[in-house]
Amino acid sequence: MDTSRHAGKTAIVTGAGSGIGRATAIRLAAEGANVIACDVSADGLAATRDQVMTSGGAIETIRADVTSQADVERLITAANGSIDILANVAGIMDHFLPLGEVDDETWDRVLAVNITGVMRLTRAALPVMQAAGGGSIVTVASEASLGAGAAGVAYTTSKHGVVGLVRHVAFFYGPSGIRSNAVLPGAVDTGIGATAAPRTDWAMELAQKKMATMGPVADPDQIATVISWLASDEASNVNGAVVTSDGGWSAA
Ligand SMILES: NC(=O)c1ccc[n+]([C@@H]2O[C@H](COP(=O)([O-])OP(=O)(O)OC[C@H]3O[C@@H](n4cnc5c(N)ncnc54)[C@H](O)[C@@H]3O)[C@@H](O)[C@H]2O)c1
Repeated sequence: MDTSRHAGKTAIVTGAGSGIGRATAIRLAAEGANVIACDVSADGLAATRDQVMTSGGAIETIRADVTSQADVERLITAANGSIDILANVAGIMDHFLPLGEVDDETWDRVLAVNITGVMRLTRAALPVMQAAGGGSIVTVASEASLGAGAAGVAYTTSKHGVVGLVRHVAFFYGPSGIRSNAVLPGAVDTGIGATAAPRTDWAMELAQKKMATMGPVADPDQIATVISWLASDEASNVNGAVVTSDGGWSAA
């Protein structure tokens, strides 16, 4: 690990109270960044903060919901005019509900967190990055960005959609020095299971065809390391990329 890779940089990480977001906050802090960690879970944030502080990293935790414009503005204010890195990691699953059975509440919440939240925070970060001459945005999408069968309709739609947002930002804001890339994990050992438990047997049985080709279950830091690289200057020519980190699942 290069402990000076992100020295002097400020990084906002969403979903930092668990799983991939926590691993990203820990890694970016260990690599020198001042991390602003956001999550809806105060307990999760406290645990992340403890881990970062124990290893001497710099972290500020802010309980915030990325779907709330007011919370997004609090995050931007905390950054105090400096956002070198934005890691959009927060996301929720959809209980594998197929289209015929999805309820409006699940659909609305999954799209709100997985797309609208990313849009709101990215929209708010862009002018800060533009004023500074650039920045790097990394958004966590999913194997479900590439096809059906890894989730239900709401999650699959949200993760396809967010890749469009990532590419849009890359194309339109690349000339401002802003890079925007997506990381697509396969299965990762995190806390997302709470919103992943299937509610529909027949859809889950079909999904097993896809699951049968799944790669190994990754450790969250295996995704964080890709996020860190994309955020770093080493990836200065990488913009609009959709990078899988799925142990080969998408190659099946
Ligand atoms: N775990 C996997 O197998 C897997 C696979 C592909 C993609 N992903 C994606 O990785 C990302 C991280 O998920 P994870 O697996 O680490 O899950 P996780 O549940 O461990 O962590 C997600 C975190 O996001 C937070 N969060 C949820 N809604 C929020 C909101 N509105 N505002 C702020 N924070 C919010 C949760 O409280 C939680 O701490 C998600 O975007 C997910 O879709 C995960």
